[in-house]
Amino acid sequence: MKYINKSFFIEKVSAIKLAKKFHTPLYCYSYEKLKRNINNFKNNFKSINPLICFAVKSNSNVNLLREIKKFGFGADVVSQGELMKALKAGINSRKIVFSGVGKTKDELNYAINKEILLINTESKSEIVEIEKIAKSKKKIVNIGIRLNPNTDAKTLSQISTGKKENKLGVSEKNFLELVNYLRTSKYINLKCLSVHIGSQIVENRPYENMLKIIDRVIIKSKHKFEFIDLGGGMGIPYDNKSKKLDYQKYKTSIYKFLKNKKTKIIFEPGRSIIGDVGIIISKVIYIKKNKNKDFIILDTGMNDFMRPALYGAKHRILPAKKKSKISKKNYEFVGPICESTDKFLSTKNFQNLNENDFLVICDTGAYGMSMISNYNVRPYPMEILIRGSKINIIKKRQKLKDLI
Ligand code: LLP
Repeated sequence: MKYINKSFFIEKVSAIKLAKKFHTPLYCYSYEKLKRNINNFKNNFKSINPLICFAVKSNSNVNLLREIKKFGFGADVVSQGELMKALKAGINSRKIVFSGVGKTKDELNYAINKEILLINTESKSEIVEIEKIAKSKKKIVNIGIRLNPNTDAKTLSQISTGKKENKLGVSEKNFLELVNYLRTSKYINLKCLSVHIGSQIVENRPYENMLKIIDRVIIKSKHKFEFIDLGGGMGIPYDNKSKKLDYQKYKTSIYKFLKNKKTKIIFEPGRSIIGDVGIIISKVIYIKKNKNKDFIILDTGMNDFMRPALYGAKHRILPAKKKSKISKKNYEFVGPICESTDKFLSTKNFQNLNENDFLVICDTGAYGMSMISNYNVRPYPMEILIRGSKINIIKKRQKLKDLI
């Protein structure tokens, strides 16, 4: 994605052309970027030979999942719906792990019938439920237990999951008790220790601490784990100043951790694979002048993209067409929804904008479309995938008539 003659291009197609043809808001992904991220991830961790399960919650578009699958990826799912989408995309059930804090009986039933690789559990009650279902089906079910390593992920508190006050996972003490409990189970095979300490992690230290704790817990448990599922969380830079996680360093610490262990590593990356693959093309509906700044009212609202309203996340906004003569302005980019949190960004020194101009909201590939809502009875936007000059509609725009 770059500017050619001052116009923003996704591969060989201009954002303005797409906006005019398909209307806005428009989610748009680059195949080339997706391929690059996948290969980069795979190459970095090649020597560990992990099973990479794409975190479907970050983007559950079936057509994108189909492309990701072609690179040998499995899937990390957290609901029956995500599991069904992963299977529909052709992902092999033996490469699917089912995580989540509370899976219903129906969901467990479905997953057990599909004979997926692992059900990662987080409570004794859920384990008991799995046992019941397995017994009734006379099946042996492979599970993992998610450990809460009480590690600070040094990320936004809202997306931090590995501290003892978070609901995710079980404490070391409970973990060891559950391992003991399962030693005599006839219907459950404990194959995996799983963790996921948070998302958008850019420092290596939290992962290093996490690995030390896992190591200790494995020794204490005296159990042979066929898999260690390290979750996802690898962070990406959302602006020019911030950093991304150092994969090489992470790999080195995993390497150390794996010494004397015969276990397969599972990763569950979401954001690091799809985050910077997507943008939203958006239109300026109105400009409302104010004393110190002008409000740029977009046709894209918090229902179309939740991260800024929900976490105060900052995503760069760029003009679809750079102007030659720039007079600099202070703008606040907001959505059309009657909520004060429906705002995207405050910027200084942005190029002068006019109503009907198009803009690009950057890095919206992860937790963008997968977190939309119909709030204010606003239909879901369209999604397209660009490959060179080829444009593929991978999800049609929802019709108002289907909502009414
Ligand atoms: N595995 C598990 C068990 C998870 O809970 C998550 C994300 C992932 C993998 C993938 O993490 P990633 O590699 O994408 O960081 N909506 C928030 C992010 C919430 C993440 C929840 N769990 C956001 O927009 O930042």
